[in-house]
Amino acid sequence: MKKISAYINAKDVRSTIAPEIYGHFSEHLGRCIYDGIYVGENSSIPNVRGIRTDITEAFRKIKMPVLRWPGGCFADTYHWIDAVGDKKLRKKEHNVHWGGVTEDNSFGTHEFFDLCEQVGCEPYLAGNLGSGTIQELSEWIEYITLDDTSPMPELRRKNGREKPWKLKYLGIGNENWGCGGNMRPEYYIDEYIRYQTFCRDHSGNHLFKIACGPNAADYNWTETIMKRLNKDNARGISLHYYTVPTGNWNKKGSGRSFSNEEYYSTISGTLQMEELLKRHSHIMDAYDPNRDIGLIVDEWGVWCDVEEGTNPGFLYQQNTMRDAIVAACNLNLFNVHSDRVVMANLAQAVNVLQSLVLTEGEKITLTPTYHVFDLFSSHQGGESVYCFVENTEAGGNIKIPMITSSASIKDGKLTVTFANCSLEEDAEITFDITGFDAKKASARILTGNCCDLNDFETPDKVVPKEFSVSLNGRYMSAVVPPCSVVSVILE
Ligand code: AHR
Repeated sequence: MKKISAYINAKDVRSTIAPEIYGHFSEHLGRCIYDGIYVGENSSIPNVRGIRTDITEAFRKIKMPVLRWPGGCFADTYHWIDAVGDKKLRKKEHNVHWGGVTEDNSFGTHEFFDLCEQVGCEPYLAGNLGSGTIQELSEWIEYITLDDTSPMPELRRKNGREKPWKLKYLGIGNENWGCGGNMRPEYYIDEYIRYQTFCRDHSGNHLFKIACGPNAADYNWTETIMKRLNKDNARGISLHYYTVPTGNWNKKGSGRSFSNEEYYSTISGTLQMEELLKRHSHIMDAYDPNRDIGLIVDEWGVWCDVEEGTNPGFLYQQNTMRDAIVAACNLNLFNVHSDRVVMANLAQAVNVLQSLVLTEGEKITLTPTYHVFDLFSSHQGGESVYCFVENTEAGGNIKIPMITSSASIKDGKLTVTFANCSLEEDAEITFDITGFDAKKASARILTGNCCDLNDFETPDKVVPKEFSVSLNGRYMSAVVPPCSVVSVILE
């Protein structure tokens, strides 16, 4: 057992945790949209206008604040006009990025906005800069947000939607340093500025425009684009960073079965997020000292080899307690850096990469990652406060910090989340809390062996349970077993 001291000062407010930090991502990739979210009106699986009710319930329960769509790489080959109007007449095309399957476009703009309305989340569209035209993108915005009698709103009405929708988040290009056109940052930023000029605010709608930011540690990309951005042409830049368990993209490692060493290499890899956040923010500070432009980590999570026997282009992987620890590490980091990080989107929501939910026909299982989003949901919209852990190391050959933690205050309640990332040792952790007079604590824990997972036979193997913490004056302490995520709400 390791004894750990930690300190919270609830009066030392650092920044507001934008609810969007708890955001998600859905792409036309594998079984994320089709089978996962959307089964069509005629399916025997319970649905509302084709959208699975078990999925919308699951998303609502964790207060999903925002959902990004339609990609990913898919976004830069997407032509929205092919996916509106009579479904029988919609164009059938080849999904060039993901498994070469036929995309029948039965899930398009109307269906996506319907999904967001059913969930109660903000839509975040990824616009096509890589292979689409400016006219196409500006007409998509007119189609969605304009309320007059010009051709795009008239087409929307003909397709069944009288009033425009509200659209806040608009990404202009995805990974334009890679699948979105293999551009140099100098070229991309010229294109971005041209495209965004024609993405206008209509009928009282206000766009929050997001430029394609760096791949992981590409600091030159950030520097080059930030030189040209200001609050009038962009409100955010994206950052993509995936955690590959082995660190080797050619043999990434299994999502369900791995050694302790591979576990530690995964956690060590995911914690590199901290350096990325600090260094990209540092560059952004030089050009945007008032922090008008947010960092939006719109793709993050664990990327493993696909489950045996599944289509390699579908990126289907299982999800274990290791993913839960990864989620806790990243969400704690985003809370702590919420002065610059204003949104983050886990990749991806259903059946792809580090999913929240897995489906098989009518069956559904919530992953350990899902339960971490549930445990952390009371941070949404809270004020991130000073939280420091006198940490110790865990691990074998690869060492990691044993504890990850963050704290926030909202509506007179203090939420403290922490994880014991060790696989071997209990942590006896004591928080010394100032600036908050805690009278009552309620806590939940998600714990198990690192390879424990939920599947369709045992969907409840890894679920949160009540947990006991002790309160003694300003001290809150708990004995946390290895490989555990804890959430405490103090009142
Ligand atoms: O999430 C899977 C893919 O990863 C996305 O389509 C792309 O943006 C990234 O490379």
